[in-house]
Parts: sequence; C-alpha cells; structure tokens
Amino acid sequence: MNVNGKYYRTVWMEEGKVMMIEQNLLPFNFKIFTSDNYIETCMAIKTMIVRGAGAIGATAGFAMAQAFIQYNDNKDEILKAKADIEATRPTARNLFYATERVFNAGLISVENAINEANKIADEDVEAGKKIGEYGDTLIKDTMNILTHCNAGWLGFVDYGSALSVVYAAHNSGKNVFVYVDETRPRSQGARLTAWELYNENIPHVIVPDNAGAFLASKGKIDIMIVGADRIAANGDAANKIGTFEKAIIAKTFGIPFYVAAPLATFDINCKSGDAIIIEERDEDEVLYMTGLNENNKLSKVLICNEGSKAFNPAFDVTPASYITGIITENGIINANENDIRNLF
Ligand code: MRU
Repeated sequence: MNVNGKYYRTVWMEEGKVMMIEQNLLPFNFKIFTSDNYIETCMAIKTMIVRGAGAIGATAGFAMAQAFIQYNDNKDEILKAKADIEATRPTARNLFYATERVFNAGLISVENAINEANKIADEDVEAGKKIGEYGDTLIKDTMNILTHCNAGWLGFVDYGSALSVVYAAHNSGKNVFVYVDETRPRSQGARLTAWELYNENIPHVIVPDNAGAFLASKGKIDIMIVGADRIAANGDAANKIGTFEKAIIAKTFGIPFYVAAPLATFDINCKSGDAIIIEERDEDEVLYMTGLNENNKLSKVLICNEGSKAFNPAFDVTPASYITGIITENGIINANENDIRNLF
C-alpha cells in the first residue's frame, strides 16, 4: 500500500521489533507503533492498534517469534507466551493458524521461527493479490459494490480480501463505486475503508449501517463483498457484526453476496458456525465514540443515555446458504463442505 507516496505493509518485523500502522489513530494521524516484545505485541492486538483477520494473524506470528527470541530454550515460557497471544482475540482463525506454525518452526531454532513469521506475512500479501485477481472476474464496468467493515490493506498485510477485489477491478480500468458501511461501533468502514478508498481515488460514500435495505430496494447495489474472520468447514462465515444482516438483505433482493478470504481463515476442524467463538468487547465501544474535536484533537464522547448498559458482540455468523461464493487465492468456490475440503 502507498501512503503519501511511500510503500508500507500494515505490519512487519525489524530486528526483533514488530512495527505496525497505529490503526486507532487513523484516518486522522498516520503513525507507526513499535513493539519491543511479545507482551507489547499482545497489547497491540488486544487494543486494536492492529486489527483485521490477516493483520492479526501476521502480528500473532511475529509475537510468537518474539517469544522465541526472548525465551529460547525455555519451553514453559514459550508455551505461556503462545497461550497469551492466543488469548488476545478469539474469533479470527488467522491468529491461531500463525501461532501454531511459528511455534512448530521455533522448536527447530529461533531463526526458523522468525523466517516462518515472515513467510506467513508474505503469503498473506500473495493471497490478497490473487483474491483480487479472481474476484475481478465477478466485477463488471459501472458496478456498485457494498462492503462492510474493513477487509482492505489494513485488515491484512497488504491488498486485503474484499477490497483487493475492488482495487483489482479499478486497476483493470473498470469504473466501480463503493458503498461503505460505517460499521459501528468502532467504525472500521467510516474510518479505515473510506481512508483506503480515498487514497486509491476510488469513488465511494460512507453509509449508515442501517441503510443497506433502502439502497438494495432502490436497485443501488449490484454486488456485496465482505471479508471473513473464520470460515467453518460447512461454509458458515464469521465476520464483523452486521454482516449477516447484509446477507439477508442480499438474499431478499437477489443480490450476489460474496465472502473474500485466504485459506488461512478457514477452520476445517470447525464443523459449523455454531462452534465459532464470538468475541464480546467492552461496552464503552458502543457507549462512546472517538473522533476529532474542534481543536483537532482525538477525543472520546458519550453518545448514549448515561447509566445505560451496552452489549457489544464483535462478530456474527452468516450461514453458508446466504453466501453466493467464497473468493480465495485458489479460485472462487461454493460455500459448501465439498468445495472447502477440496481446497485443502
Ligand atoms: O474487529 P476487527 O476490526 O479486527 O474485525 C475484523 C475485520 O476486520 C472484519 O470482520 C473483516 O471483514 C475481516 S477481514 C479483515
């Protein structure tokens, strides 16, 4: 991705430090956060300095490598670090995929752990690029695309999944227009997806999360493409809260509904969406909003009745029967067990 003319990845490792774009400051400030050890990297995942399935996966892989750097030969400490990393966020499969791979690699040597973590990050970039190329075959000139949350560069190491399709279509000369769900409560759509599209000069508007049915009923949406945090063996897909509602709208109005995700997001040991753990986050994310105040300072304001409680599930599961297809780096498949098992 290019930011102010310079190439960046969302997360990378340099001499044992993990560097990442500080996503909690976007789109207002662009800063790189540096983590010196696996504990700080865990904190960065938990507090969503880095977020999005692919980016969380790569960061978790780097955190595991940092644990090997710190505790080489102390298997108990390394196992504790693995448990700490895996306790940061429960839903994205990519996180566990990365800790398992880097842990096994690190049993051979520290160097091997670092190489494996870098390999996972490189594979994420390659997968995102391919997802874009396959997804582009679904897009026709002048299509209006609706997306939810942020499944772009920032949600991965580069390219993204759902937005990679948009970028590929745009780069192949098609005129596309994107409806960006604001994606409350943390507003990943309004803050991150809109920022990415703006940087890429792709026409878009931010829409309230509850505008989907209105837009669909007016014939404004040709296709919906979203990302995924974990896909079960039967094709049920967990993604940011509100995704399932969009799928219901798509089915009601006969709009194709695609999920874009790399193989690292599939959990073939998870039979169906019922077994996916849904993260519940702090109620403050619902009760307060953060933005720029009149003095150009990031500030947090209460937006609800003081004293009321909030419930904040971070993801929902879209049943496979609502999904037209899943765009992967190995091609577009149907959301069913047969096609998914054939992928592996
Ligand atoms: O809570 P987040 O921001 O880490 O949510 C994950 C997501 O970004 C989305 O659900 C996304 O569509 C998955 S693909 C990056």
